[in-house]
Amino acid sequence: MNLSRGILLATSNKGKLKEIRQILGEVVHVQFYTLSDVNAENFDVEENGKTFKENALIKAKAYAEKFGFVTLADDSGLEVDYLKGAPGVKSARYAGTGAKDSDLYNKVLKELKGVPSEKRTARFKCVICLYDPEDVSYIFSEGVCEGVISTIPAGSNGFGYDPVFIPDGFAPKTIAELDPKIKNSISHRGRALEALKSKLLQN
Ligand code: IMP
Repeated sequence: MNLSRGILLATSNKGKLKEIRQILGEVVHVQFYTLSDVNAENFDVEENGKTFKENALIKAKAYAEKFGFVTLADDSGLEVDYLKGAPGVKSARYAGTGAKDSDLYNKVLKELKGVPSEKRTARFKCVICLYDPEDVSYIFSEGVCEGVISTIPAGSNGFGYDPVFIPDGFAPKTIAELDPKIKNSISHRGRALEALKSKLLQN
């Protein structure tokens, strides 16, 4: 894998871009390109994989082949054990297209109504794929943040399912009640980036 020509970051999420630059920038001293740098904002990829890993690969490969850069893509979401791993890869569209964050987490709360705390275990998972279109090589890294689903939403930081996710070690606070710096230090995405950083350091 040759990173010398730079890395295309296949996300338009500003928070993610900042985190990627911060963590990977420590070991990878190359140019990072955003989607707007390569006029890729309107390029759409259907994420039809069955796992986070499949979707991360689908995305990274599609952008890498289309734009010719080594590309970093991620896929993430929430897995609830009692719901047999749902919302999983459907996390963003669990309550239908165009649903608000509150529709998403209220659906999960409704499905867990009356379920005791020891059966409310869940995790945020993130898989990152770095794909090189020249030698058709790719690497994955994964990060997980374990916790339980609360019974009522609380907090206003973060996004998505944060108001109903209580990370292990922080009860009774949800992620949405934690300082964003703490979230970054325990987040699935942060951990996946740290794991990728270690893999790149080994190479
Ligand atoms: P994506 O991988 O950024 O597309 O995330 C898919 C969906 O998973 C998001 O729309 C959120 O609903 C959920 N999700 C992913 N990461 C987080 C997080 O850190 N907090 C809350 N929800 C998240």
